[in-house]
Amino acid sequence: MTEEVRVAVLGASGWMGKTHTMAYQSFPHFFGPAHGTARVIALVEANPAAAKDLGFRAPDAKILANWQDAVNDPDVDLIDICLPDNMHYDVAKAALLAGKHVYCEKPLADTAVQARELADLAKEKGLITRVGHSFPRNPIHDRAKEIIDAGEIGEIKLFKACQHIDIYGDPLAPYMWRADGALAPTGIIGDTGSHVFSFMEFLVGKVSSLIADSYITVPKRPKVDGLGYGDAPPPVTDETEWGDVTNPDGTNILCTFENGAKGLIDFSRVATGRKFMQTYEIYGTKGSLAYTFDEVNRLRFYSNDDAAGRRGFREIDVGPEHPTYAAFLPLPNFALGYNESKIIEIAEVIKSITTQTPMWPTFENGHHICQIVDACMASSDKRAWVDIA
Ligand SMILES: NC(=O)c1ccc[n+]([C@@H]2O[C@H](COP(=O)([O-])OP(=O)(O)OC[C@H]3O[C@@H](n4cnc5c(N)ncnc54)[C@H](O)[C@@H]3O)[C@@H](O)[C@H]2O)c1
Repeated sequence: MTEEVRVAVLGASGWMGKTHTMAYQSFPHFFGPAHGTARVIALVEANPAAAKDLGFRAPDAKILANWQDAVNDPDVDLIDICLPDNMHYDVAKAALLAGKHVYCEKPLADTAVQARELADLAKEKGLITRVGHSFPRNPIHDRAKEIIDAGEIGEIKLFKACQHIDIYGDPLAPYMWRADGALAPTGIIGDTGSHVFSFMEFLVGKVSSLIADSYITVPKRPKVDGLGYGDAPPPVTDETEWGDVTNPDGTNILCTFENGAKGLIDFSRVATGRKFMQTYEIYGTKGSLAYTFDEVNRLRFYSNDDAAGRRGFREIDVGPEHPTYAAFLPLPNFALGYNESKIIEIAEVIKSITTQTPMWPTFENGHHICQIVDACMASSDKRAWVDIA
């Protein structure tokens, strides 16, 4: 076992950069030495104003402006990519070529071809990889998987899921890199769809074909430097500069899984009032499961094995009988949230490296998720069903 994994976090001042840095520091409190230890030795941030406070977050880390300096640093074992989507492929490739393990935020790459190349390169070099899909690492989804794998809902016939936010519900909400097809080539599909696809891959299996309808609701948005999620833009004037929205705001999908199950999925960034909506429902021949992020620690389970007259969805709260939950809390229903999912994910990244054991979702799994993203883009363009090889 490597004693300590030395980490460089790239895009350190952003949302994910902040969350990941916190998680490296936090996971030993909950998981002890069993997963190994990690030390953030470099924080990379291109925006000098934002980088100013980084020393406070990880006092011993070098603060760098260029990601290449981290990739070429012989002291770094793990490159953690929290950069805008369009940089993931170049940075991950350079890191793998430099012999570093790579933990990359989703979507792994802009295309499945790029993702394939990264997965192959990691395999050739014997390096550990991981994609940051976060949500499925909440132990409630391990419960769902156990129920499915034990055959308690029978054969899965239908998967329904959605994920919505409303950052672009308001037509005057400011332009961000997320709306720029150059910086986020797949838009909401790679951004939000990839989360739904990660649940599909974790719980149901591989998708074999789909038809998707993607849309842009507002083609131009006011451009204001430095604004991020939730920031109110200044009023529109004659001076306002406008940015073209060049990637999808939302997508509706029908799909078929390799195991024959059918899927019905929708996601968007324009669902006014939906600050964060994430749900799935899985219908099988013997029972069903239903989940909503609004009750993030609760699964609903229906079973045909229950006596007639006693049937109905029952609520299962994840609690300390699940080891990952117990790592945080001694009582059920105190709720593990988003940040805990990230701490679990990062504890697993470090365990993967210290034990040389790949853990889901690796770049190989990320490749299949990118194939689904590609298929959505192609299907929306062609307005036709697309097969996934
Ligand atoms: N897993 C999840 O739940 C989740 C949630 C949010 C975002 N993400 C993903 O994480 C990634 C980052 O998203 P975010 O919300 O943190 O974005 P963000 O805009 O908050 O942060 C990105 C950071 O990267 C910096 N940056 C940009 N170019 C750089 C460069 N060349 N060198 C160094 N730093 C640079 C920016 O200045 C910014 O601080 C995206 O790929 C996104 O899809 C994943």
